[in-house]
Amino acid sequence: MCGIVGFVGAEDAAPILLDSLERLEYRGYDSAGIAVVDRESGLQVEKCKGYVSELRGRLTQRAPMTGCAGIGHTRWATHGEPNDINSHPHVSQNGRVAIVHNGIIENYIHIKEFLLSRGVTFASDTDTEVVAQLLEYFFNDCDDIMDAVYQVLDRLEGAYALGILCADTPDRIIAARKDAPLLIGYGEGCSFIASDVTAVIAHTRTVSYMEDGEVAVLTRGRVEVFDEYRRPVEKTSHYVDWDVSAAEKGGYAHFMLKEIHEQPQAVRSTISPYLRDGKIRFDGLSVSTDYINGLRDIHIIACGSSYHVGMIGKYNLERLVRVPVSVSLASEFQYSDPLVGRDSLIIAISQSGETLDTITAVKTVRSRGAHVLSIVNVVGSSLARISDDVLYTRAGPEIAVATTKAYSTQLVMLNMLGLYFAEQRGSVAPDEYAAIVTALEALPAQMQQVLDDTDEYQYLASQYFNRERVFYIGRNLDYALGLEGSLKLKEISYIHSESYAAGELKHGTISLIEDGTLVIALATYAPLFEKALANVREVQARGADVLALTTADRAGALLENVHNLMTVPDTHLILQPNLGVIPLQLLAYYIALQRGCDIDKPRNLAKSVTVE
Ligand code: F6R
Repeated sequence: MCGIVGFVGAEDAAPILLDSLERLEYRGYDSAGIAVVDRESGLQVEKCKGYVSELRGRLTQRAPMTGCAGIGHTRWATHGEPNDINSHPHVSQNGRVAIVHNGIIENYIHIKEFLLSRGVTFASDTDTEVVAQLLEYFFNDCDDIMDAVYQVLDRLEGAYALGILCADTPDRIIAARKDAPLLIGYGEGCSFIASDVTAVIAHTRTVSYMEDGEVAVLTRGRVEVFDEYRRPVEKTSHYVDWDVSAAEKGGYAHFMLKEIHEQPQAVRSTISPYLRDGKIRFDGLSVSTDYINGLRDIHIIACGSSYHVGMIGKYNLERLVRVPVSVSLASEFQYSDPLVGRDSLIIAISQSGETLDTITAVKTVRSRGAHVLSIVNVVGSSLARISDDVLYTRAGPEIAVATTKAYSTQLVMLNMLGLYFAEQRGSVAPDEYAAIVTALEALPAQMQQVLDDTDEYQYLASQYFNRERVFYIGRNLDYALGLEGSLKLKEISYIHSESYAAGELKHGTISLIEDGTLVIALATYAPLFEKALANVREVQARGADVLALTTADRAGALLENVHNLMTVPDTHLILQPNLGVIPLQLLAYYIALQRGCDIDKPRNLAKSVTVE
């Protein structure tokens, strides 16, 4: 989704804004722009369709932008095609205010009609421009920018994170938020706003997160925050311990490849705070043993890859905890009138903690009394703040749009949680518990083993990169794993792929198999290996070209039957997807590379989906 940055300090804002915008490029966008203000030159704006590099080019062809306060934006088009005019910042008709916006103003047509009837002229097709024009309209009337801001916010329906610059007050930026993420960064003699923390960690690690209804006024050495009634608000600040270099490519061709290789470390860091002396401990959780014993059901809600983690979680939690587990897409769950109550545990999973569908679903269940435990990667994010309990994965900043290390850390976190609940409920045998703990301890090294030799995946990619459709098949955990493998492939390589429960093939899907159809058969789930083998034979009999994935000790049995084989080490069966996902990520990555795709920023996709 759109990225927002803002800076006010002692030095020129433009270079800092550009640098921060580059750090937000990973979110996916189609145009970029900045606005800077100073007393002599007033508001200066440059914006264009394309990447920040194009914006930089434009800036070299004009007089330098001077001013120590500014706002910047990367746009992900919703209203109006991506072009120079629709790019942000949007400036009001008399040039008194400039606005950057993330979100959607739902009543913009209504406001636009009102302003048109008052003689205001519009330059763009966007919903955002109405905010700039309405602000100037009220400002002309009251001559107090804060009064005007509050009058505007009163009339907006929808979601917004706003950065506002005003020619009359060149010493400040103003920010406002409702249902779209926005944070404040506290630097040495300077202040920032940003839609996510990666934009500011090169300058400061101390941030606070704006809440719905809040308005912030940032000047060089001071930040004031007010609530919707204009009462001052005391903000809690958070320290972000992410390393700046973690948000840089560090010699890798793509962030995605770097993040795939960071998985052993990310998983190790996620496991270690909770695993001590052979025991999983979640001491900080507010749920009591009585509550865990009285649990009626567990509902997992998430989107995309986080939902796929939930699919694996359903199998593993039911196996360990012995309570019914449902897993739902957050975008569906929120409109389904869910049957949840006080003895239901909701587990919400999100890398960003800013996915609007997940946040809305969580608000729905909270209003029905359910306890919400979130698994989140970004400290202090919106989802974390509205949950009863939060478990942070320690993947570090994930920059590539296609998730890899966040997925792996979510998986181990969910498994550890299941194991912890199971121990409390007495639903796991002690030797099984010990076996899983031992397997968890060994997991990072086994993941590294898979990553130590990537030549094989490059070779396989060279064999398959020109296919136009691919099927993933598997049973139980392999089916859930196939969903993730298929998503990885389609989102970055644009090859159409689907994942099917292998047992379902004969109920319809098998009619799609013809001579040469590529089928990726997942056979890592030991209890159903023979059935997986039968499914391989079934598709081969219809002409499929089969690439299989299995564990090292079963490779022999499969090799006789398939064209190509990928193997991973053996681990406890509930952890097997943590190893199985790596070959699928690498295969997708190298196929996309051979097809010349923009791997880190796939078309039409955004990293953090903050609109419905
Ligand atoms: C796919 C991917 C997305 C996200 C989904 C949820 O590679 O990254 O499917 O998993 O948009 O995002 P979070 O986890 O931030 O809620």
